[in-house]
Amino acid sequence: MQLLDGKALSKTIQKEIKTAVEQRIQEGKKRPHLAAILVGTDGASQTYVGHKVKMCKAVGFQSTLLQLESDTSQADLIKHIQQFNENEDIDGFIVQLPLPKHIDVNTITEAIDYQKDVDGFHPQNIGRMAQNSPCFLPATPAGILELLARNKIETSGKECVVIGRSNIVGRPMSLLLSRNNYPGNCTVTLCHSRTQDLAVHTRRADILVVALGKPEFITADMVKEGAVVVDVGITRVADASRKRGYRLAGDVKFDEVAPKCSYITPVPGGVGPMTVIMLLLNTLRASDKE
Ligand SMILES: NC(=O)c1ccc[n+]([C@@H]2O[C@H](COP(=O)([O-])OP(=O)(O)OC[C@H]3O[C@@H](n4cnc5c(N)ncnc54)[C@H](OP(=O)(O)O)[C@@H]3O)[C@@H](O)[C@H]2O)c1
Repeated sequence: MQLLDGKALSKTIQKEIKTAVEQRIQEGKKRPHLAAILVGTDGASQTYVGHKVKMCKAVGFQSTLLQLESDTSQADLIKHIQQFNENEDIDGFIVQLPLPKHIDVNTITEAIDYQKDVDGFHPQNIGRMAQNSPCFLPATPAGILELLARNKIETSGKECVVIGRSNIVGRPMSLLLSRNNYPGNCTVTLCHSRTQDLAVHTRRADILVVALGKPEFITADMVKEGAVVVDVGITRVADASRKRGYRLAGDVKFDEVAPKCSYITPVPGGVGPMTVIMLLLNTLRASDKE
């Protein structure tokens, strides 16, 4: 069994981005600029956005964080988005999800200029992704592709099972792995909460991508010998033995599943660090368009 070490790979890519930024500055170009809008005070969202800002600094990007009150109206949020769309200095920006209940996420996603949509959630980017045309790929699935590619994992002709059909992870993952590309060319099955006999599907999987958000849901009896297992899940589970009172758990029962795998991602240190780095890579690409 080999670990798909997202932490180590993300550090390698971080260095590559930093070098590319230094090169840009030497050529007299401006620093890539990533902006983020955070609505409300959700603790996890604040942590994620804070980490993104910190990572911008680490690679030499400029960053802007706009923090809005949780009762900000949808119309006001759209006004801020339009300002970011028009701000020529901002190469790319994100609106941190989840949004408060009174705001419609699809309306907000569509208000973002798709050429600045470095999260890759705009319908233009999703459509282009499906057509295999140039676009911003959603960060988490893109990070998984990068983990597969840089570990030279064969995907062509493989049976791939994705669990979870969210717009940000499962559905784009299933599209990407079915494209006529490397990594891709898989025969993909997309499973969700209405799937019957889930284990019948998972046991066939050469590549199993798990993104349902249920800690330790996938057990050894559900996994094929020699499978590649990618665990996207991150759930805070109460743990009194930890100083912070919780631990992060994946969707896969790592200890019993890992011995059966050819490759597996750990949680934490697998998919998570790759997600942030792919957001930075998208921003670097956005700045290259100038
Ligand atoms: N590592 C990262 O960077 C990263 C990034 C994003 C998300 N995540 C984590 O990944 C997990 C999934 O996130 P998400 O946003 O995709 O979640 P989500 O929007 O809640 O979607 C969960 C999906 O799992 C399906 N599901 C739920 N229970 C199931 C079951 N018993 N059997 C089969 N399918 C089931 C749901 O089916 P229905 O559609 O039928 O409801 C849904 O499609 C979460 O733990 C999240 O924190 C990690």
